[in-house]
Amino acid sequence: MGATGLVGIEYVRMLSQHPYIKPAYLAGKGSVGKAYSEVVRWQTIGQVPKEVADMPVLPTDVNEIKKAGVDIVFSPLPQGAAGPVEEEFAKAGFPVISNSPDHRFDPDVPLMIPEVNGHTASLIDEQKKRRDWSGFIVTTPLCTAQGIAIPLAPIYRDFRVDSVFITTMQSLSGEGYPGVASLDVVDNIKVLGDAYDAKTVKEVTRILSEVKRNVPGTMDELTLSATTHRIATIHGHYEVMYITFKEDVKVEKVKETLANFKGEPQDMKLPTAPSRPILITELDNRPQPYFDRWAGDVPGMSVVVGRLKQVNNRTVRLVSLIHNTVRGAAGGGILVAEYLIEKGYIPK
Ligand code: COA
Ligand code: MG
Repeated sequence: MGATGLVGIEYVRMLSQHPYIKPAYLAGKGSVGKAYSEVVRWQTIGQVPKEVADMPVLPTDVNEIKKAGVDIVFSPLPQGAAGPVEEEFAKAGFPVISNSPDHRFDPDVPLMIPEVNGHTASLIDEQKKRRDWSGFIVTTPLCTAQGIAIPLAPIYRDFRVDSVFITTMQSLSGEGYPGVASLDVVDNIKVLGDAYDAKTVKEVTRILSEVKRNVPGTMDELTLSATTHRIATIHGHYEVMYITFKEDVKVEKVKETLANFKGEPQDMKLPTAPSRPILITELDNRPQPYFDRWAGDVPGMSVVVGRLKQVNNRTVRLVSLIHNTVRGAAGGGILVAEYLIEKGYIPK
């Protein structure tokens, strides 16, 4: 769904090269009936893949999609529009992987980063039963929350964290096209405000609360605070974090934890799982959005962490860069699908 949008194109790009999940039906609204390559604004690397160039954009209609023999529905539809459409598809038996916020806080809907909280897939059984659906919905977190949660998860797993103060500089693609008015960001920083800060913290809090911990301590003792901004980059959210621990922690230990981080998708060798979900840069002028957003062996799927610094005995600073429309949306959604196939929630 939303196949012509800025997240839709990353789905189409990645699935056109995928070994076993193929773009079968490109759903849209205003462009229905036209050839995909004629209407799409290909604001990403490469060209419109040959396999899809001549495919028509088709209606977002559950019966049509059923007739086409589709197995999985990816939904990066805008907030508000997504919710009811996703429910309709899940009810009709489709596994729906959503990048939209509408169902992220339903208690029976996973909010999933497969390396971090893949075990929350078990909510699917409860969801289907409770709602009497033959399909289901799984969501991926807000792109900016993923850039925070991916490095914080192994740190939170291995250390006793007291507080984390976060500042984000987020790219324009996160708001789609035409998205942010140029006069709001050129010669300026768009301040996203209290509501955006709060939803970022809320999502990171839910994800961390689902991390399997190696150290004792509860969520209640953790303070998270975020200040969020939109800046005039196209792709890549850049996030500065100050992490304060409950005891002395050496930055080298934190670096080791981050560099060694792997999850089930790596063990399963899923095609969209990068061998390292977190890449560390030692250069003091990196990561930078322009140079580092496509880093890793599955381009755009690794978060790049740098600027690691001991601030005082208990505080470490780091910077994280995430490709928001890839790991933060479409790539994250495809990884969820691969994971659910491997776990048997979606038939092979
Ligand atoms: N039902 C069906 N299709 C719909 C729809 C609805 N209710 N609402 C929008 N669409 C269609 C659009 O009409 C368009 O298709 P068309 O070309 O046939 O007309 C297609 O979806 C893409 O449009 P849009 O979503 O506006 O693309 P965009 O590039 O402007 O915005 C997103 C893309 C991803 C930013 C935006 O959809 C969004 O905010 N999604 C939710 C969260 C998300 O994934 N954020 C990205 C984080 S990086
Ligand atoms: Mg739009």
